[in-house]
Amino acid sequence: MAENTAGKTAEKIHDVRLEVNGVTHAVAVPARRLLSDALRQECGLTGTHVGCEHGVCGACTVLVDGRPVRSCLMFAVSAVGSEITTVEGLAEPDGSLNPVQQAFRECHGLQCGFCTPGFLTTVTAGIKENPCPTHDEAREMVAGNLCRCTGYQNIVKAVERAAEIARGDAPAAAPPEGDDGGLEAATGDAEVARDDDASTTGLGA
Ligand code: FES
Ligand code: FES
Repeated sequence: MAENTAGKTAEKIHDVRLEVNGVTHAVAVPARRLLSDALRQECGLTGTHVGCEHGVCGACTVLVDGRPVRSCLMFAVSAVGSEITTVEGLAEPDGSLNPVQQAFRECHGLQCGFCTPGFLTTVTAGIKENPCPTHDEAREMVAGNLCRCTGYQNIVKAVERAAEIARGDAPAAAPPEGDDGGLEAATGDAEVARDDDASTTGLGA
């Protein structure tokens, strides 16, 4: 490890490739750069939100090789060789919303939308593993994700509805006219100005 002129040890930078949503991102990161920060800062994928930064809130959940992972607990360099899916990559290949995104929109399973990307990734993996969750299993599926808006009733409804849509039991309903039903939050396009700020997340830093 090199020393800089001030006598401090400079952090070694690693050139790595991250496969995110089917796209290769060549990034240069220190070994300790969190995956959540690399996704947001190096890859420009700000749909992944950062709340607590210590594995509690679930807002930063992404899929790593299809499994939900808290990206604030994983180093970016550890994700090399894995396929990462963020909220921006959940939509179907034709651009339409996936069953979970459709269900959250339809059931109004979001309010401010800050927690939503983490719920969407978690539930996308959850209903793959358990395509017919009971009400209790639907609650359990999202038990590790915190929503400060206390919208859990509709979130749990959305989990059950997402499983229905994914099974093909009932077609997705169109959202009410003039209401985007939280489309931006559901796709990761929502602007969240200060999501590293405890006053915004309510979860402390
Ligand atoms: S669990 Fe990662 S930001 Fe909260
Ligand atoms: S909608 Fe969950 S934190 Fe606001």
